[in-house]
Amino acid sequence: MKVLFAASALLATCSALPTKRATEAASTPNITDVDILQYALTLEHLEDKFYREGLANFTLEDFKKAGYNEVFYKNLKEVSYDETTHVSFLTQALTAANATPVAECTYAFGVTDVKSFLATASILEGVGVSAYLGAAASIMEKLYLTAAGSILTVEARHSSYLRKANKQSPFPQPFDAPLTLDQVYTLAAPFIVSCPASNGMLPVKAFPALSVSTAADCIATNKTITLQTKEPVAAAYNEKFYAAWIAVTGPTFVEAKFENGNKFSTMVPVGFHGQSYVVITKKEGSVTDDDVVAGPAIVEVQGANGESA
Ligand SMILES: *[C@@H]1O[C@H](CO)[C@@H](O)[C@H](O)[C@H]1NC(C)=O
Ligand SMILES: *[C@@H]1O[C@H](CO)[C@@H](O)[C@H](O)[C@H]1NC(C)=O
Ligand SMILES: *[C@@H]1O[C@H](CO)[C@@H](O)[C@H](O)[C@H]1NC(C)=O
Repeated sequence: MKVLFAASALLATCSALPTKRATEAASTPNITDVDILQYALTLEHLEDKFYREGLANFTLEDFKKAGYNEVFYKNLKEVSYDETTHVSFLTQALTAANATPVAECTYAFGVTDVKSFLATASILEGVGVSAYLGAAASIMEKLYLTAAGSILTVEARHSSYLRKANKQSPFPQPFDAPLTLDQVYTLAAPFIVSCPASNGMLPVKAFPALSVSTAADCIATNKTITLQTKEPVAAAYNEKFYAAWIAVTGPTFVEAKFENGNKFSTMVPVGFHGQSYVVITKKEGSVTDDDVVAGPAIVEVQGANGESA
């Protein structure tokens, strides 16, 4: 997970770059409801294991030492129970649909203490919300849509609770961002070490990982931030890149200046707060598979929309 949201102390000076809005959304894959249920179960397994492992790693005393009380600890146990229940619910739904439900994988969460456990928990809940939201339009069966919605609302409540516990705005903006299956898989893949062969392949792919290297307290509207890929990017001389900030109304494109090797500098556009998602694309107005270079990166933007409305 270090890759996804490592916040090193690097800080570029803050300058403005032009922004432009466009509405070309990512391509929606042709997938079945069973695919979507398997995808949801894959994510729920990850969350379920994450909380069970974290609550086995850290005791009530550890949480108290980190500044959290017993009520908070009990609520985390409830969150863990919810995720376990989502797993059994989706498992049953798949069995009822004559499919073999995917099994739990092995994961590497990179958690070292209560603080990093809660930071990762909050990020996972936010990604979960965006995953269900992004998949909703591809669900054919209305009963599944209602079921997915009933999980989404609970994940959103978990997200707010954890964001508050992490001293972040619990609901920083009026809309959540939908992510495509491939975008979510890009974010989940670094946690997954291996899966049982019997799980089969989901119709998803991971883009190259992208992370933000600007210090968390320097990430705010109109500030310049640095995004980096793991591997160097092959770019032609003077080639242009764009940062596409994902939103329900379509991405906002901002120029992303290729710095060197694996670094891009770009500006946080107006209207993005809290856990935001940005991909690097070669073409302004497009976030199709052919044009995306890397990402999404998870970028936590300071403040809330209402403050600057
Ligand atoms: C893709 O979706 C369309 C529209 O729902 C459907 O008609 C078509 O059969 C699907 N194609 C595949 C390969 O599943
Ligand atoms: C639990 O502890 C192990 C060993 O320190 C660590 O690798 C893992 O990421 C932790 N997981 C959680 C969810 O706290
Ligand atoms: C960001 O820049 C825009 C355009 O220059 C300006 O209207 C807006 O007030 C700025 N917002 C913040 C929070 O700096």
